[in-house]
Amino acid sequence: MTVGMRLLQPLDINGMVLPNRVVVPAMVTRLSGEDGVVQSDIIDRYVRYAAGRVGLIVVEATAVHSAKSGPLLRLSDDVFIPGHRELAQRVHDTSASKVVPQIIHFMKVARSGWRQTIETLEIADIEGIIHDFGLAALRAREAGYDGVELHAAHAYTLSSFLSRRNRRRDRYGGHTLEGRLALFGEVFAEVRRRVGNDFPVGVRFLAEEAIKGGYTLPEAQQIALRMAQLGVDYISLSVGGKFEDAEQRPGEPLYPYTGYSGDRCMPGDWYPAQPHTHLAAGIKSYLNERGFATPVISVGKIAEPERAEALLRDGQADLIGMARQLLADPDWTLKVIEERSDEIIRCVYCNVCKDLDERFKKVTCFLWPKGQIQAPDNRARGPSPCWPPEGASLSGAGADGRIRLSWSPVDGPGAEIAGYDIYRADGFGTVQCVEAVKGRRFVDRLALSGQTYRYFVRAFDHDGRTSPPSETIAITMAMRESSSD
Ligand SMILES: Cc1cc2nc3c(=O)[nH]c(=O)nc-3n(C[C@H](O)[C@H](O)[C@H](O)COP(=O)(O)O)c2cc1C
Repeated sequence: MTVGMRLLQPLDINGMVLPNRVVVPAMVTRLSGEDGVVQSDIIDRYVRYAAGRVGLIVVEATAVHSAKSGPLLRLSDDVFIPGHRELAQRVHDTSASKVVPQIIHFMKVARSGWRQTIETLEIADIEGIIHDFGLAALRAREAGYDGVELHAAHAYTLSSFLSRRNRRRDRYGGHTLEGRLALFGEVFAEVRRRVGNDFPVGVRFLAEEAIKGGYTLPEAQQIALRMAQLGVDYISLSVGGKFEDAEQRPGEPLYPYTGYSGDRCMPGDWYPAQPHTHLAAGIKSYLNERGFATPVISVGKIAEPERAEALLRDGQADLIGMARQLLADPDWTLKVIEERSDEIIRCVYCNVCKDLDERFKKVTCFLWPKGQIQAPDNRARGPSPCWPPEGASLSGAGADGRIRLSWSPVDGPGAEIAGYDIYRADGFGTVQCVEAVKGRRFVDRLALSGQTYRYFVRAFDHDGRTSPPSETIAITMAMRESSSD
């Protein structure tokens, strides 16, 4: 089945040969200290992705300047190079995965709610930003990375210039698309000048700002065209994640993923799968029709190998980015290669990782064993989990808009389980894994009264091996009595 899969085909990006089409997009880990130095936990996190055989690892947002922030990596000085050198080396020693850092410039935010905006930047500040990006990219090259990615997405400086809400009146804005693109163009030229033509330089930007008055696909297509004309080596797309609609929480610095645009950036469990693939497809076709083959990375709740494969086969993307899914299961690619896709631990998009990021806490996955800061590495393959001889004893009842389920624990040698997948089939025959839980209870709050639902449960261990399905039970919640009479 894997033979001929596009997902597993290599891709040459300006001399950086990815062994396959799977990408870990940048994901802040909060594993670094305030000093911004790469240390062993960070290296372990990225080596784990390499062991899982992903094609490209984008190392979390790494500051080009020395402005104060929470725990964040840096390439703002030569002193940071040795740590990055070790990270890149360890990844290369582990597998054929390629690794690039995402380099970022951000503006100041204060706990009071004040934040610096691009409209206040003087020309000298802008020159400083261009200079800092150039030097950080050069350090990435000196550290032995395979390339570098410019962060021009979300709430950060380059993105704010590209924004339709850029209010500068000079040549870096001026209410024109050319003005909005000017800083990116100058940053890119400086980065190229520093790193040379033979070093891959990718970009991440927004396919849609997802804020009131923000740009949408037609302008994103033109921005992508300009980036391709400038010679960026790949384009990674994201959506939203802006300050403009972020919630101000008293005493806390503004976090750009708290508003609607934040939901769009990291769509939660209530969003459909793959809500943004049409945007990447729209940008890819726009570029291809104009003669550019710049690889495009599609991201956003992509998790199923067959659906990822279909995106590549149908020409909707060149590369598949998965952030939370690869955090949950860094062996995703390996399992696809070994035809063990049924053992993939599915991300449940609960966004615990996002909440940890927001609170500057070490970013881990809800599905990992409690207290662990890396994904479990259970390569010694034991028996699959199994139910006790009398079965799972799944039972449930519905009332007040809730269907409550409970079941017996898994037994025997496979009892080291990570959680339980809950499957639900509605009366129209659609079966869906609706949730993963760690305990032995589940409350379904999204059921309609008068409708019959069938449920079954499967236990899974930390290696993704699952038990057989439990028995299936059918539950119908009584219709609520009307309160109007
Ligand atoms: C904890 C966390 C940290 C993130 N940090 C970054 C980051 O440093 N840079 C970036 O461009 N995107 C960042 N993102 C966004 C992801 O790269 C990705 O675009 C988003 O999670 C949607 O993809 P997914 O549905 O596959 O998770 C982060 C996401 C999460 C959950």
